[in-house]
Amino acid sequence: MVSDTVLAAFGKQIDWCNSLGSPFTARVLGILADDFGRGGATAELAADWTRDPIGDALALRFAGALHAVVLTDAAPALAACYPPRGSTDDALRAAVLAALDERRDYIRNFLLSPPQTNEVGRSGVLLGGFLHIARATGLPLRTLEIGASAGLNLVWDQYHYTLGSGEWGDATCPVRLAPEWTGGQPALGTPVQVVSRRACDVAPVDLEDPAQRLRLRAFIWADQLERLARLEAAITIARAAGHRVEQADAATWVRDRLAEAAPGCTTVLYHSIMWQYMPQATRDAISATIAQASAAATRAAPFAWLRFEPARVVEGPEMRCTVWPGGEDVQLATAHAHGSTVQWQHGAMAGGAMAGGAFDAVDATANPKR
Ligand SMILES: C[S@@+](CC[C@H](N)C(=O)[O-])C[C@H]1O[C@@H](n2cnc3c(N)ncnc32)[C@H](O)[C@@H]1O
Repeated sequence: MVSDTVLAAFGKQIDWCNSLGSPFTARVLGILADDFGRGGATAELAADWTRDPIGDALALRFAGALHAVVLTDAAPALAACYPPRGSTDDALRAAVLAALDERRDYIRNFLLSPPQTNEVGRSGVLLGGFLHIARATGLPLRTLEIGASAGLNLVWDQYHYTLGSGEWGDATCPVRLAPEWTGGQPALGTPVQVVSRRACDVAPVDLEDPAQRLRLRAFIWADQLERLARLEAAITIARAAGHRVEQADAATWVRDRLAEAAPGCTTVLYHSIMWQYMPQATRDAISATIAQASAAATRAAPFAWLRFEPARVVEGPEMRCTVWPGGEDVQLATAHAHGSTVQWQHGAMAGGAMAGGAFDAVDATANPKR
């Protein structure tokens, strides 16, 4: 039954919103699920949904659509119920149902495109990985990001970080990442320099397009106001930096990039929360290219693979890193999917520049918890 699967999709998303810190979005989705069950406007809007509503993140599309209505000031009564303001369940229900009715065409159109997100908080996890690589190789970095979305994690070295008791980056930067931190610390004193950076996405977000910027904002859960403010600040920085996320499938792009010689620097292939969205054949092709690149890596031109992705064995995402030559695969951290909490798993490292013997340092700092 289509209606059962749509209701199951709403139910799952409500659970995820509650467990990932968005009780308000869970409330909105509860109202929509109830309306769907009664055959209201939600049911009419979802009537043509023939594809898998869970795989398509249909509930998230609805939440994004309503948030976009609020962000564009298209429904003042609904905006009056949205954070930072509070609302009773009855008031919220009335405003949601009215907006569905009055803004139906806009919402129908919004539902057609898949959710698109770019979580800056993940830079708070990735930074430790870049420092780990810089420390291990002692060379400047040539970074290659796949599934980069709008490219907000491409300019990670412009943000300011507070990681436990340590700080890193430009203290005047309005993007301030301060995840709840446990465990040791990355090597915050390691000099790190990015000599070139490129990124691709199969469906990149163009930050110069106001409609695409709106979609990015709309898919931030409406009660996560800090994330929203951080996103705005990161968009400003990324636009000023002017890097372009290339439209390309990751498999061919990685193959082409890794075929290019890059002596005197460490080539870093990195990605966050994107691996699961690629078909198996694409993942296999990238893995084969990584195997080739790792075999060709030398101390003068090392290769590193840094990834923050759902873990196979532990619950939740983890950040792993492999640096070649050497090829030891280490778990650096486990973290919340948005980077709001980080458990640093790798050995606490002293800061300071690497002189030589960089690859030995990877082993020297290995952590039994790895
Ligand atoms: C959940 S988003 C994560 C975006 C970003 N990495 C982040 O952490 O915020 C997943 C991204 O992977 C991209 N993607 C999915 N399949 C892809 C492929 N085959 N090649 C390149 N990018 C892909 C999507 O377009 C989307 O931008």
